Amino acid sequence: MAPRVLVTGATGAVGRHLTRRLLEEGAEVRALCRDPARPLPDGAERVIGDLTDATSLHPALKGVDRAFVLLTDDAGAAFAQAVNDVGADSLDRLVLLSANAPDGPEHDNPLFRKHVLGEARMAASGVPTTVLHPGPFASLALGWAPAIRVSGVVRVVHPDLAVPVIDPRDIGDVAAVALLGSDRAPAGGTLPLSGPQRLDVRARVRTLGRVLGRTLRVERVGEDEWVRSVSGRLPEWYARALMGVERHLAEVEPAVVPTVRRVTGREARTFGEWAEDNAAAFRA
Ligand SMILES: NC(=O)c1ccc[n+]([C@@H]2O[C@H](COP(=O)([O-])OP(=O)(O)OC[C@H]3O[C@@H](n4cnc5c(N)ncnc54)[C@H](OP(=O)(O)O)[C@@H]3O)[C@@H](O)[C@H]2O)c1
Repeated sequence: MAPRVLVTGATGAVGRHLTRRLLEEGAEVRALCRDPARPLPDGAERVIGDLTDATSLHPALKGVDRAFVLLTDDAGAAFAQAVNDVGADSLDRLVLLSANAPDGPEHDNPLFRKHVLGEARMAASGVPTTVLHPGPFASLALGWAPAIRVSGVVRVVHPDLAVPVIDPRDIGDVAAVALLGSDRAPAGGTLPLSGPQRLDVRARVRTLGRVLGRTLRVERVGEDEWVRSVSGRLPEWYARALMGVERHLAEVEPAVVPTVRRVTGREARTFGEWAEDNAAAFRA
């Protein structure tokens, strides 16, 4: 029988693609949304709930076999509570969208803490869990879209930071394999995920310029200036935490890993493919 899968974050970059993949594979998908008006892929059952409110998640969890869990600022507290409240007897697998976060007091960063805590909470829920550890997403480039549309100048703090950004659709594809059940993505395992190539900001902006047919520029700015420049869309604590993550990435120099190919049987998408498919967001 086709599994019944709850997808949280179903309107987001990973969840939207995952929902489509699961439907294509014949699964029944229940998609969790906060906003009843947000569009969902045809064929998904909409269920309203908030990931920070355990009671609101009870209807979403009743009768599902598997769940894809996205962590919000409460680090999975309400979701784990809801699993405990409803008993969720039929639930035999969680796939958790986490991140490769270093633990310990020297890494006291709220973005790291959220993932470390979230993993501990899902482990304590007793439901066998596959943990996904992606590095930075290709879609972080959407943060440059307003500047690219208006001036063509991208101002960042670490222009030379090279990371193997991953297309969120590849995370969705791996999550689908894990949710449908496969030895390539076992419960209890952690899957490190990356894109196919380490690229610094200058290389990613060059790629966007090529796709858009424009000459774009990158300028280095100080952290305080950058935090002020994004204050309209990111709270200060979050912007500072992101800079902490970037400093950590510069130290560890994250490697390309072959997990997407191993789990899905095809190559991870390049940043160029992501840029082609998202070019409209960067056009005026
Ligand atoms: N960005 C990165 O580079 C990176 C790297 C490693 C790991 N991650 C992990 O990936 C996650 C982001 O995934 P994504 O890119 O798919 O996210 P996204 O595109 O920003 O979408 C977030 C999704 O979560 C939903 N959501 C947010 N708060 C919610 C709440 N309180 N209740 C119910 N739904 C809620 C949103 O729904 P609405 O439509 O209601 O807003 C949306 O569907 C991060 O939270 C982080 O844990 C990210």
